[in-house]
Amino acid sequence: MDHEAQATSPQTGQARNVLLEVRGLNVRFGGLLAVAGLDLDIVEGEILALVGPNGAGKTTVLNCISGFVRPAAGSIRFAGRDLLALGPERRAALGIGRTFQNGQLFASLTVLENLLIGRHAHLRAGLFQGLLPFGPAKREDAQARQRAREILAWLGLEPYANRVVATLPAGLQKLVGVARALAGEPRLLLLDEPAAGVPMREVTVLVEHLRRWCTDLGLTLLLIEHNMHVVQAVAQRVCVLNYGRKLTEGEPTTVLREPAVLEAYLGREEEASPLLEQEVSDHAAR
Ligand SMILES: Nc1ncnc2c1ncn2[C@@H]1O[C@H](COP(=O)(O)OP(=O)(O)O)[C@@H](O)[C@H]1O
Ligand SMILES: [Mg+2]
Repeated sequence: MDHEAQATSPQTGQARNVLLEVRGLNVRFGGLLAVAGLDLDIVEGEILALVGPNGAGKTTVLNCISGFVRPAAGSIRFAGRDLLALGPERRAALGIGRTFQNGQLFASLTVLENLLIGRHAHLRAGLFQGLLPFGPAKREDAQARQRAREILAWLGLEPYANRVVATLPAGLQKLVGVARALAGEPRLLLLDEPAAGVPMREVTVLVEHLRRWCTDLGLTLLLIEHNMHVVQAVAQRVCVLNYGRKLTEGEPTTVLREPAVLEAYLGREEEASPLLEQEVSDHAAR
C-alpha cells in the first residue's frame, strides 16, 4: 500500500492528506434533488461517519463515490485522480471498496468463494491468462486464497469459510460482506450501515474491528451509520446530511447535540438510536 504524508488529526490543524475530495456534488432522480451541492473531504487514515435521517442522500453519496450513480454536477477526486470519468471496476481497482446496505453477497456460494470474488477487483491477470493452468494467474489464485484465509482468520470467520452464506445468521453475513470488501485490499472503504441488523453484543465486536482496520491496515473509512453508539465510538468526524444538503460537520459528541441536527431527527425518532433519541426528546421538551 502506498503511503503518502502521514495524516494528522483535523483538530491539530496541521497539513492534512486529503484522500477523497468531493466538490459541489448534485444528484437528481427525476424532479428530486437527492444530493445538493455537497462538499466533503476525507483525510487519509480517518474514520468519517455520514449520518442523517432516512432519505437524506447518504447511500446516494456512497454510490457516487463507488461509481453506481452518476451525479448531475460536481467533482470527486481520489488520491488526486478524477473519479467521475471511471466506471465502478476501475474505481475498485484504484482502491475504493464498499459494502452494500442489504449485503448483496452471493448467498448460494460459500464464505470463501465470496471473498475470492471480492479479491477479483485486485487481480491483474486477464481473462485469457485465467484460463491457463500455470503462470501468473495460477500464482495469483494461490495468493488470493491465502489472503482470503488470512482475512477470515483475522475477523474470526475461519470456522465459516466453507459454509454457504445463506445459512449464516444476519450478523455474520454482515461481517462476511465486510470481509469480502477487505479482500479487494481497498485504501478507502465505504460501509453502508454495517451495524444494521447486528445484535448489540456483536456491535461491540464490530466497533473493535473498525478501529483495528484503520490502525493496522492503514485504511480510511467512510461509514454510514444509524447507531450513534457506533458513530461516537469509532468516528473522528461526523458529517450530517439532511435533504441532500450538509447540515453540519465536526467532532461527534458536539455535532450530535447541535439543535439543527436534533431538529432534523425530530418526528423521526423511530429511526434514531437510543443515544440520539434521548437528545431529540429533551430538545423537543425545551
Ligand atoms: N435510484 C433511485 N431512483 C429514484 N430515487 C432514488 C434512487 N435512489 C435514491 N432515491 C431517492 O433519493 C433520496 C435519497 O436516498 P438515499 O440516498 O437512499 O438516502 P439515505 O441513504 O440517506 O436513506 C430518497 O428520497 C430516495 O427515495
Ligand atoms: Mg441508505
